[in-house]
Amino acid sequence: MARPKNDTFLRALLRQPVDYTPVWLMRQAGRYLPEYCETRKRAGSFLSLCKNPRLACEVTLQPLARYNLDAAILFSDILTVPDAMGLGLYFAEGEGPKFERPLREEWAIRDLAAPDPHAHLRYVMDAVSEIRRALDGTVPLIGFSGSPFTLACYMVEGGGSEDFRTVKTMLFDRPDLLHRILDVTARAVADYLNAQIESGAQAVMIFDTWGGALPGWAYQEFSLAYLRRIVDELIRERDGERVPVIAFTKGGGQWLESIAAIGVDAVGLDWTTDLGEARRRIGDRVALQGNLDPVALFASPEGVARETRRVLESFGAHGPHSGHVFNLGHGISQFTPPERVSVLVDTVHQFSRRFHGGAPAPAGSD
Ligand code: CP3
Repeated sequence: MARPKNDTFLRALLRQPVDYTPVWLMRQAGRYLPEYCETRKRAGSFLSLCKNPRLACEVTLQPLARYNLDAAILFSDILTVPDAMGLGLYFAEGEGPKFERPLREEWAIRDLAAPDPHAHLRYVMDAVSEIRRALDGTVPLIGFSGSPFTLACYMVEGGGSEDFRTVKTMLFDRPDLLHRILDVTARAVADYLNAQIESGAQAVMIFDTWGGALPGWAYQEFSLAYLRRIVDELIRERDGERVPVIAFTKGGGQWLESIAAIGVDAVGLDWTTDLGEARRRIGDRVALQGNLDPVALFASPEGVARETRRVLESFGAHGPHSGHVFNLGHGISQFTPPERVSVLVDTVHQFSRRFHGGAPAPAGSD
C-alpha cells in the first residue's frame, strides 16, 4: 500500500487538514542516542554505517522506537554525493567531514561528472528499500540531499569552514568555475533524489545549510537558481501519491518569498524567523517546517514544553493550523538529553490539537 497508516506528515506538507501537528527532528538518529553510538561502534565508523544498508536501516528506526515521531528520515549523509563523484570523503575524529581531493583545479572541475545513483550510490537505494520494508507502512520515509551550493562548499573547501574563503573567492573571481560545479552537482542531486523516490522515499528534503552565508544576490544566482532547477526535475507523484518537496536554507528566512516560489511544497525555517510572521508573509502558498532552537532541548522539561508551545502558538496565532510540520530549526545536538525529546514530541501532539479541528486532547494532557 502506497499511503502509510500515519500520513499526518504528508498531509500537513500538502496543507490538508490534520488532527494534530506532525513532528520529526533533523538528525533524529544520531549521537545523542546511546543505541546509535552502539550500532556505530559495531559498524566501525560513521561512513561504514552509512554504507551498510542493514545497519543504516537499524539506526533509522531507533528514534521511532523511542518516540512517537510522525516520519522517518533515511540515515545517510549529504556528502555521499561528492564521495560518489570521486572526492574521497573521510571523517577525521573530532574534526568533521573532509575530502582527500578538494575540488580546486580547473581541470578537475572540467572533468567533474554526475554519478549514476543506481551504481555509485547503490547502498543508499538499498537502505531506502530496506527501511520502507521495515517501516511496513507505519510512517512515511523522507529522503534527502544537500543543495548544490552547500555541497560545493564542502567540495571546494575540502571540509567545513568558518568563512568559506576558498569557495567564495571562486564565486567572486571565477564564477564560471563555480557555476560549472553547481551545474554538475544539480544534475547529480536531481538524479539522486529521483532514485531515492523510485526506491521508496515518500517525501524529499534538500538541505541548503550554507546558502545563508551568501549575499542576497549571490544566494539567488548560486544557490536558489539550482534548487529551482532540481525541483523542476523531481518526480512529484509516485504510486498515485504526491511526493512533497521541502527546501531548507539555514539563515534563509529573509528570502522566504523567493524560496516559496520555486515550486516546493514546504519551506524549512531555522529558529531566527518567527513562524507566524513567516506565515503572514507567504500566506498558504507553501507549508512551513520548523523551528524550535535545538538548544531549547537543554532547558528543564517544563522549559522544553513551554518553548515547544511557543512555536506552536506562533504558527497558530494567525488562523487555522494546517500546513505546519514541527521540527527543530537545525539538527539536534549530540549532547541533548534523550528524555527531553519525549517531552517535545508529546507536547507537540497534545497541545497542537487545539489548533486543528481534531479530537480534543485527553484531560490533563498539556
Ligand atoms: O536527520 C537524520 O537523522 C538523517 C541523517 C543525517 C546526517 N547528516 C547524519 C549524520 C542528515 C540529514 C545529515 C545531513 C547533513 N550532513 C548536513 C545538512 C544538515 C545540517 O546539519 O546542516 C550537513 C551539513 C552534513 C555534513 C556533515 N555530516 C557534518 C558537518 C558532519 C559532522 C558534524 C557532526 O554533527 O558531527 C556530519 C556527520 C554526521 N552526519 C553525523 C550524523 C549522525 C555524526 C557522525 C558520527 O556519528 O560521528
